[in-house]
Amino acid sequence: MIDRYAVIGHPISHSKSPLIHGLFAQATGQTLEYTALEAPLDGFKATVESFRAQGGRGLNVTLPFKLQAFEIATDPMASARLAGAVNALKFEGDRILAQNFDGLGLVNDIQRNLGVSLAGKRVLICGAGGATRGAIVPLAEQKPAVIAIANRSADKAHGLKADFSALVALQTGGYEDLAGESFDVVLNATSTGLSQAALPLPTGVFAPGALAYELVYGKGLTPFLKQAQAAGVIRIADGVGMLVEQAAEAFEWWRGVRPDTQPVIARLTVPLV
Ligand code: ATR
Repeated sequence: MIDRYAVIGHPISHSKSPLIHGLFAQATGQTLEYTALEAPLDGFKATVESFRAQGGRGLNVTLPFKLQAFEIATDPMASARLAGAVNALKFEGDRILAQNFDGLGLVNDIQRNLGVSLAGKRVLICGAGGATRGAIVPLAEQKPAVIAIANRSADKAHGLKADFSALVALQTGGYEDLAGESFDVVLNATSTGLSQAALPLPTGVFAPGALAYELVYGKGLTPFLKQAQAAGVIRIADGVGMLVEQAAEAFEWWRGVRPDTQPVIARLTVPLV
């Protein structure tokens, strides 16, 4: 039986994961099948069980099932426990191993692909939802000088500060608290890249030479990236590299082979105009 993998979500037809993993398999000579699997909103667990019964070896998990995937895991790895959510599952006998590679994918994209070292830098994350939660520890491991989190509802940012206090010191608040501060790396981990809303960022928030990074991908110049450009930022990026890098982590975890991400990123990149 061929080793089967899939990305599971609802909806799922937009997913680039089958293309990415298909290219990885081709390039590394791995024989596997990777498809898109749409689970009913009330049928995540049953869909996973039937996939396993048909030879499923692993799944990528996307919205809205990242929390349910955590609940069915028998062995959540540190990345999943820290994020409180799962984006990759591996089936080994009766065990369901779970990881969250989003944060590592983000860090690898920033450092390896965009050539921006995080050590000693001032990093600002806009947003305090699931995407931020997954990014905190992988970012902190690179030893930035500061990790600040700003959110529309400041209380949610303060909640993250409390949750992570044993691991990392976070500076948290609302957008108005950023007045007078500037950052070398500014990440938009809110969902505004999808809704086309703008964030109330003070004008000086981007330090000279800053990187502005939008975590969503394929949306062109989002309001956040436009704001960065208007503030004179030259280095802007969307999340296409993060998407491919997290996929590469999952592929290596499942198959034991590290795929080259560069050609796949080049294939998926849409110019930011
Ligand atoms: P995800 O899992 O993708 O992070 P989420 O948990 O729903 O999604 O979080 C969405 C984030 O986008 C939150 O930080 C949210 O801010 P609030 O916590 O204040 O709701 C942020 N967000 C969404 N729309 C926004 C907007 N129009 N302006 C500012 N922040 C917004």
